[in-house]
Amino acid sequence: MSVFYKLIRPLLHAFDAETAHGLSIAALKHGLVPLPAPVDEPSLRVKLWGLDFPHPIGLAAGLDKHIEVPDALLAQGFGFVEVGSVTPKPQKGNPRPRLFRLTEDEAVINRFGFNSCGLDEAAGRLAARARRGIVGINLGKNKETPDAADDYVKLIAGLGPHADYVVCNVSSPNTPGLRALQSREQLDAIVVRVQAAMAALPVDPKPPLLFKIAPDLTDADLEDVVRVALDRGLAGLVVGNTTLSRPESLSSPHAKETGGLSGKPLFPLATAVLQKTYRLAGGKIPLIGVGGVSDARTAYAKIRAGASLVQLYSALVYQGPDLAVRIARQLPALLKSDGFAHVSEAVGADCR
Ligand code: FNR
Repeated sequence: MSVFYKLIRPLLHAFDAETAHGLSIAALKHGLVPLPAPVDEPSLRVKLWGLDFPHPIGLAAGLDKHIEVPDALLAQGFGFVEVGSVTPKPQKGNPRPRLFRLTEDEAVINRFGFNSCGLDEAAGRLAARARRGIVGINLGKNKETPDAADDYVKLIAGLGPHADYVVCNVSSPNTPGLRALQSREQLDAIVVRVQAAMAALPVDPKPPLLFKIAPDLTDADLEDVVRVALDRGLAGLVVGNTTLSRPESLSSPHAKETGGLSGKPLFPLATAVLQKTYRLAGGKIPLIGVGGVSDARTAYAKIRAGASLVQLYSALVYQGPDLAVRIARQLPALLKSDGFAHVSEAVGADCR
């Protein structure tokens, strides 16, 4: 942990989690967070979907939902940043409290329910950026929209031109009915409509389209998702979102709060599902591995389990904003000790 975060963490954690989150965003916005030296390590550069990632450790969706600080986050040394989820209409989400630190478990539970600034504001902020660094846009649906595909199509038309990649989130546990969209028929129908919206974008090249799935899918459901992804030629899958499950190991008083669990206790489940996904897809679909990454060892395990790229979020709450850089600096030694000259060689190593 940086000296800066060692000093600041007790102060931040004296506030409730959502207030602390707001303070962190404000500090990033006003340039109050020290910048780590950038990572420049040829063995970590990833070329995927025509994009050049300086290294594979990115920020997961949900921290910068309203696209307030993507560039400040890139300056913190993330290899890429995913903003959102954004919904078409602005919506408030669930009532507070809706974000909980499980400090004893180095975990988080959230039930935000897609609080979003909405499409128009998001598009304005994205259009005002000088596009430097890779920013993916994560799409959600409004609570009241009966047909989710309608929302994704609107969001793609409005935000797609500003995106380096697009993620349709069909896996947040806090929006009623959303996760049902992962069933084969529903998913296939959505993918077809969303791909048509992507094809209609007036940009060249079109950004790659990914879907983000839940770590709670049954094996049969996961097989269906991979089948659809392969048949329809999705660019990738993000594996995965928060879990509704509650591992027995949890000891925090907040462990029984309703919502999605993330952070360290999610790692075994999310990594097992990642590995299954890689195997089912025969390594043919690039995967972003996310869930419980907290250090170089867990990031490397995601890569070995099949992740071409890795994301994290909850560990930042406990370890500070320069965590991605610290992980990236340690990865080359881990690769080298297994005889890999480049990170791409390690992808899926545990599945062979
Ligand atoms: C999230 N996550 C999330 N995911 C998403 O696709 N859209 C979203 O809006 C959010 N919102 C969100 C808020 C909060 C407070 C958290 C902690 C998480 C899920 C996130 O992107 C990631 O998939 C999980 O948190 C698992 O990764 P970590 O946190 O264990 O590294």
